[in-house]
Amino acid sequence: MFQRFRPYLKYLLPVRTYFIGSVVCAGVYGFVYGFVLNIVLMKRVFPAIFAPERGLQFWQIVGLASLVPAVFFVRGIAAYFNAYFISLCGVRVLEQVRLDFFRKLQVLPLGFFARHPTGDLISRGLADTNQLQFTLTNVANEIFKQPATLVFAIGSLIYVASENRDVWLVLLCLASVPIAVFPIRYAGKHILRRAQQMQAQLGTVTDRFSENLGAAKEIRAFGLEEREIGRFAAAVQSLFHVQMKIVKYSSFLSPTIEFISAMGVAITLVYAYYARIEWNTFLSIVFALFVSYEPVKKLGAINNDLKRGLSALDRLEEVLNESVEIADPAQPVNVGRLHGELAFATVNFAYGPNGNIPALRGVNAHIPAGTVCALVGPSGAGKSTFANLVPRFYEVGTGSVTIDGLDVRAMRLADLRRNIAVVSQDPVLFNDTIYNNLLLGRPNASREEVMTAAVNAHADEFIRGLQDGYDTVVGERGSLVSGGQKQRIALARAFLRNAPILVLDEATSALDSESESAIQDALRKLVVGKTVLIIAHRFSTIRDASLILVFDQGAIVAQGNHASLYAANPLYRSLYDRQHGIGETAAA
Ligand SMILES: Nc1ncnc2c1ncn2[C@@H]1O[C@H](COP(=O)(O)OP(=O)(O)OP(=O)(O)O)[C@@H](O)[C@H]1O
Ligand SMILES: [Mg+2]
Repeated sequence: MFQRFRPYLKYLLPVRTYFIGSVVCAGVYGFVYGFVLNIVLMKRVFPAIFAPERGLQFWQIVGLASLVPAVFFVRGIAAYFNAYFISLCGVRVLEQVRLDFFRKLQVLPLGFFARHPTGDLISRGLADTNQLQFTLTNVANEIFKQPATLVFAIGSLIYVASENRDVWLVLLCLASVPIAVFPIRYAGKHILRRAQQMQAQLGTVTDRFSENLGAAKEIRAFGLEEREIGRFAAAVQSLFHVQMKIVKYSSFLSPTIEFISAMGVAITLVYAYYARIEWNTFLSIVFALFVSYEPVKKLGAINNDLKRGLSALDRLEEVLNESVEIADPAQPVNVGRLHGELAFATVNFAYGPNGNIPALRGVNAHIPAGTVCALVGPSGAGKSTFANLVPRFYEVGTGSVTIDGLDVRAMRLADLRRNIAVVSQDPVLFNDTIYNNLLLGRPNASREEVMTAAVNAHADEFIRGLQDGYDTVVGERGSLVSGGQKQRIALARAFLRNAPILVLDEATSALDSESESAIQDALRKLVVGKTVLIIAHRFSTIRDASLILVFDQGAIVAQGNHASLYAANPLYRSLYDRQHGIGETAAA
């Protein structure tokens, strides 16, 4: 069980002094509580105080009596520092595990997030790490202290018995200790399974939560309030059931062990009567037994805690050990600024964990550097997929995507992506000022460059109209600005990036046709010398493209310029006509 934690031991290295300190404190605790207390009471305090001839002075009695608080004082100090030091280590280790988890989330391929709901990942990152931290500090608190106490308590038992030369007595007493282990094992087995269920259920609850918060508008628009409450209630109720099962098994432990230890005392009592054992020897044995049951009980509880922690660790490791298919190559080719000549060679691509949702089939394309290339086709034809393969958001199934003749898999991801600016239909803004959101495009840009980019994207005028201008905070995911304003900020961000390859996937869809045509003018100036992939539903944007690729069902079915495609390709013509209302009027 402990091997599971081994990979994380390296995080203890920086705090090893505290760790050693806590082990030493645990030893002191065990020695003082398990051994010294018993021996002092039985050998010094009781015989003197309960002696038949009461000849002690007042101060002698006080002195003897204060040995008890003295022992507890030392025990208390040791317990305090043991807990403090070891918790410090546990919290430190968990801090690193949390960071590892978050770091991993930054590099996992986009396909991973399609398979894992956000709520589930949040629940792993927060609830499971919390559980693990709770386990680690709890377990660590007892893991040295209790065994030390047990060893010294048994030591005191043997010491007392050896004076009486009564081996049987000791064996009898010791025998009941292992019996207490059975209920521990029984409960532990059940708890592990329930703990896993509980954490998974917690994930479902978080998921319902985050989905609900993200769909506040839809819920009101479609009147889904009751349905949502019902779904949430069901998730919370399942959580209640598994939680109670854990309580059932973990609460059963303490009373059972106490009962077993009471049986041990009863048997020892009977034996003591026949063996004519002195009352103070007997007391000492019962005391030692009492002291040694506590560790057994605590270690049992630890066992259960560990099970719960392990199930949390399992869930964390599912993410931590997830392979990162899209990573830097072992021997990357160094690239600086690319020209932007794109080529797709018989590219096949499918979505889904097993690649069972085909999206591109045998796609060949050559887009010379500096070309404005439009991708058109019906919804679901594969246009976005095609564009997403260029920054290597997804990995091609077979075939290859090359830029300037170099496979995208041969470059460092950072080098590749620095050469590409992507603007999507629904750009995400961070909850920060507009200025800082723009700056993400190129963090070392000057204020002037930022402003120019905003002017080119026709964002400047509306930004200046806002209360705080460029220092306006846009709210979570940019919720305080309109869809069209968000797109203009995203465009400005892309302009600022000044990358040789520009991908605009429905990047102007939320703009009215007036602002769109204004941006078209700006674009025309900006795209000089750049390779642009443009996906747009409005054909006004597409007509000017020097190359148009027509997609249908994952394949490129035709390519050329507007005039030649309109003349020769029925699909292109129907898409174009439909947009201009020609087909519909004819049919009507
Ligand atoms: N993340 C995804 N996981 C699984 N399947 C996907 C994913 N994204 C797209 N698909 C599927 O791949 C196919 C191509 O999708 P793609 O987004 O490339 O189409 P598109 O041409 O951009 O359509 P639209 O014009 O509607 O944006 C579709 O059948 C779609 O259902
Ligand atoms: Mg698309």
